[in-house]
Amino acid sequence: MLNKIHWHYFVAGLFVYIAGKLLYFLYSNKTKVKGRNLVCADETTMDIRAEVKDVQEDGDDAEDDWIPSLGDVKHKQLEFNSLSEEEMVVRAKEYYKLLEGRRTVRSFSSRSVSKEVIRNIIKSAGTAPSGAHTEPWTYVVVSSAEIKEQIRYIIEEEEEINYKKRMGKVWTGDLKPFRTNWIKPYLTEAPYLILAFKQTHSLRADGKKKMHYYSEQSLCISVGLLISAIHYAGLVSLTSTPLNCGPALRSLLGRPMSEKLAILLPVGYPHEDCEVPDLKRKPLDEIMVEFD
Ligand SMILES: Cc1cc2nc3c(=O)[nH]c(=O)nc-3n(C[C@H](O)[C@H](O)[C@H](O)COP(=O)(O)O)c2cc1C
Repeated sequence: MLNKIHWHYFVAGLFVYIAGKLLYFLYSNKTKVKGRNLVCADETTMDIRAEVKDVQEDGDDAEDDWIPSLGDVKHKQLEFNSLSEEEMVVRAKEYYKLLEGRRTVRSFSSRSVSKEVIRNIIKSAGTAPSGAHTEPWTYVVVSSAEIKEQIRYIIEEEEEINYKKRMGKVWTGDLKPFRTNWIKPYLTEAPYLILAFKQTHSLRADGKKKMHYYSEQSLCISVGLLISAIHYAGLVSLTSTPLNCGPALRSLLGRPMSEKLAILLPVGYPHEDCEVPDLKRKPLDEIMVEFD
C-alpha cells in the first residue's frame, strides 16, 4: 500500500518537474533574440527587444556580423558658456517667439534658394542627439526638376488610393480643414524636396553592421531641428508623410533597404498668395505638468 502511494507521488513530482522545465525552455527561447537572452521584466527591456528586432528584421544575421557602434572615444572638457538668469529668460522668450511664427505651408513659390543655405540647414539637423551617437539619418536633397516630377507622380498615384480607399471617412474628415487632397503641386513647385530617411542600421563595405539604437526617436529629433533651422533661415516647409510611398521613393533615389523614408519636406519660399489655416496652439497649462 505504502509503496503504491510513494509511486504516485514520484510520478506527480516527475510530471511537475518536466512541465516546469518545458515552460522555462519555451519562455527563455521566446525572449532570446539572436543569442541575447533578454528577460522581459519592464518597459525598457521591451524597448530593447523591439529595437533589436527592428534592427535585425531584415536578415538572419549571426552576432559576428555586427560590430560595436563606436570604438574607444577619449573625453574632453565641455565648452560651456554660462549665461545670467535674465539673459536666459530673454533668449528663451526670443526662441519661442521665433518658433511660434513657423507654419506649415502647402503653396510654394518656385523662387530659387541657394544650395549653401540648404547644406547648412542639413548640417543643423545632423547635430541632433542620437541613440549611442549612431546618427541614424540620411537626408536626400532633390532639386532636379525631373526627379521632382517622378516623386510627384509616385506620391499622387499612391495618395489618390489613400484618400479614396485606405484612409477612410474619419481620417479624410480630419484633414478637411487643411484643404489637402492627392494633387500635390508643391512637390514640383518648391525648389527643394528634402527626404529624411531613418537608418535602421548601417552597413560597412566588408558587410559588418552597426546597430542603430532608438533610430525612430533620433530621426524625429533631427527632423525637428531641421524644421526649426529652415524657419530660422527664413524659408518655409511642409512636414509630410507620404503613405505607402516609402519603398518606391527609396528605390527611385537609390537608397539601401536599411533606410526607411520617414518624412518628406518641400522647402522654399511661400507662394505670394499662400494661405494657412488659422490654427490655435494649446496653452502652456495644457501641455505641461509640473511637480515642484
Ligand atoms: C508627422 C507629421 C505628418 C504630417 N503629414 C502631413 C501631410 O502628409 N500633409 C500635410 O499637408 N501636412 C502634414 N503635416 C502638417 C500638419 O498638418 C501641421 O503641422 C499641423 O496642421 C499644424 O500646423 P502648423 O505646422 O502650421 O503649426 C504633418 C505634420 C506632422 C508632424
